[in-house]
Amino acid sequence: MPTLFDPITLGDIDCANRIFMAPMTRSRAGDGDTPTEMNAHYYGQRASSGLIITEGVYPNFDGKGYVRTPGIVTEAQIAGWKQVAEAVHAKGGKIVMQLMHCGRVASLHNKPKGSRTLAPSAIQAKGEMYTDAAGMQPHDMPEEMTLAEIEQTISDFGQAAKNAVEAGCDGVELHCTSGYLPAQFLSTGTNKRNDRYGGALENRLRFVVDVLSAMIAKIGAGRVGIRICPGNPFNDLSDENPEETFKALIEKINPMSRAYLHVIRMKAGVDNIELAKSFTGPVILNDSYDLERGNRALMQGQADAISFGRHYVANPDLVEKFREGRELAKPDYKTLYTPGPKGYVDY
Ligand SMILES: Cc1cc2nc3c(=O)[nH]c(=O)nc-3n(C[C@H](O)[C@H](O)[C@H](O)COP(=O)(O)O)c2cc1C
Repeated sequence: MPTLFDPITLGDIDCANRIFMAPMTRSRAGDGDTPTEMNAHYYGQRASSGLIITEGVYPNFDGKGYVRTPGIVTEAQIAGWKQVAEAVHAKGGKIVMQLMHCGRVASLHNKPKGSRTLAPSAIQAKGEMYTDAAGMQPHDMPEEMTLAEIEQTISDFGQAAKNAVEAGCDGVELHCTSGYLPAQFLSTGTNKRNDRYGGALENRLRFVVDVLSAMIAKIGAGRVGIRICPGNPFNDLSDENPEETFKALIEKINPMSRAYLHVIRMKAGVDNIELAKSFTGPVILNDSYDLERGNRALMQGQADAISFGRHYVANPDLVEKFREGRELAKPDYKTLYTPGPKGYVDY
């Protein structure tokens, strides 16, 4: 049986070990939502991870939700990500970009001028988010997407995947949980459409399947992964039957995505570890793992790799620390999303 220190191949991506860095929004993009030298330094510091999954990156301007988050739309953004990918590759690491469209979980205060807040249906999410311009703000009341806007968004995801690979990334991951746009389409609480993108289960799956197809058409099935967490109620998400929804989704993507399925194991009415077994490709598990529990999940055949979030905030050399049995540093929660180097590149 492999351990976390053994190499693994995910589709077309060869990883030196199975200790992955989970996607983490850190709200430190530069002007124009462009990655900076500091961001490149941060990811480069963590390059001994078998695979870095970047923070959520928006695939079009409407898809931005949170403050100071990066995009992969403009030439400057592509150039910014090139620095990041180079910093990781220079140290022998691998990096995939998480593509994250926030849909209705957004404030216009955080978005580029002229962009809009769109969702499958015009239903406002409960809750608030932080903005630099006006402090805490309720989520916007979203506009219901037209069919043309849905098609444009799908195509934008394809282009974003292409841009990510042009920037040197080894692949992309579709963020399909935590209440953001793909999850909004899947779930009955947020999708009240009665066209081919809503209503029956088959129709609610269509957006995610179409987005994956668009990305695969641009960069190949071996470079496209997807992240899910069935039952996750984050950002006011609700579905009448998440187990049924995600079982059906996995059946659909089994013949499509060869890179990986990334599952947050949170128990919210669905046994996500059990559900993940129906995926035919490699499975990455996440959430509250340490070395011992991670190795046990591999040994039990539940996972092929483990991603670590908070440990990677405070331990850029997590692989080395695990290997040498050293004590782990604790993250400073006050500086998770603050601008500047403090709590970012100084661990
Ligand atoms: C600061 C921070 C930012 C996060 N941002 C994202 C994100 O952009 N995309 C995502 O899929 N998950 C995000 N997450 C969730 C993590 O990827 C991960 O699922 C979570 O931290 C649990 O794993 P852990 O116990 O190893 O920390 C974030 C978590 C933290 C702590």
